Amino acid sequence: MSDKITIAVSKGRIFDEALPLLAKIDVIPKDDPQNSRKLILETNKNNVQILVIRATDVPTYVERGAAELGIAGKDVLLEYQGDGFYEPIDLGIAKCKMMLAGLKGVKKEITRPRIATKYTNITQNYFSNFGKQVEIIKLYGSMELAPILGLADQIVDLVDTGKTLEANGLVPYERIADISSRLIVNKASMKLKSTAIKSFIEKLSDVIEVAE
Ligand code: ATP
Ligand code: PRP
Repeated sequence: MSDKITIAVSKGRIFDEALPLLAKIDVIPKDDPQNSRKLILETNKNNVQILVIRATDVPTYVERGAAELGIAGKDVLLEYQGDGFYEPIDLGIAKCKMMLAGLKGVKKEITRPRIATKYTNITQNYFSNFGKQVEIIKLYGSMELAPILGLADQIVDLVDTGKTLEANGLVPYERIADISSRLIVNKASMKLKSTAIKSFIEKLSDVIEVAE
C-alpha cells in the first residue's frame, strides 16, 4: 500500500495560514499557490499533495477517504454531521468566535426569534440546549444584512475583530463557541497508513508547540 498523503485544505484564510505551518515541517507546494489555478498542488515531498477546496467540503473529502488529512475550521466541523474522522490537533490558526448578535438598541429577549445563519445545526443545538424555540433562516453569507432589512431578528456568525458587526450597527450577545482550525484524519487511513500519518501529526504538533 502506497503511503501517499493527500491533505484537503479550506481555501481562503485557512489555506493562507496553514501554508506557513506546513512549511515549518518542510511541506512546500511546488507551484506558487497565489498564481496557480491547480486544485491539486504537488509538494516538495513526493508522497504529499494538497487539495485546495471549499471549507464545507473538507470534512466530506476526509470522511470518505478521498483525502487522508484535512484542515478545516471548528465551525465547519461542528456544523458537519458525520464522525468518519479523528481531530487530533488544534492548529491554533484562523481563530475567531461563533456569536449570537443583534441590532444595537433593540430588545434582545424575543419570543421565538428569527435567526439568520449559515450554521443551522450549531444554531439549533445551541437553542435546544436551553429549550428556546427559534425560527432559523438559512443564508449563505453576509448574515449581518438580515436584521438590518428585517429578514431576521438576530444572527449567528463568526466574529473576530467585531468590526463587521459594528460597521453594520450590530452588537454581540452571546459567545456560542471558540473557533480555530483543526487537523482531521480519516479513521481508516489512521490504521492503514499509520506510519506516515502518525509521523505527520507528530511533526505538526511539535511546530505548533514551538509556535505557542
Ligand atoms: P465559503 O464561502 O467557501 O464556504 P468562506 O467565505 O466562509 O467559505 P472564509 O471566510 O475564508 O471562507 O472562512 C473560512 C474559515 O475561516 C471559516 O470556516 C472559519 O473557520 C475561519 N474564519 C472565518 N471568518 C474568520 C474571521 N473573521 N477571523 C478568523 N477566522 C475566520
Ligand atoms: C467573516 C464573518 C464575518 C467577519 C467577521 O466574514 O462571516 O462577517 O468575518 O470578522 P470581524 O469580526 O473581524 O469583522 P469574511 O470576512 O470571511 O467574509 P465572508 O463570510 O463574506 O466570506
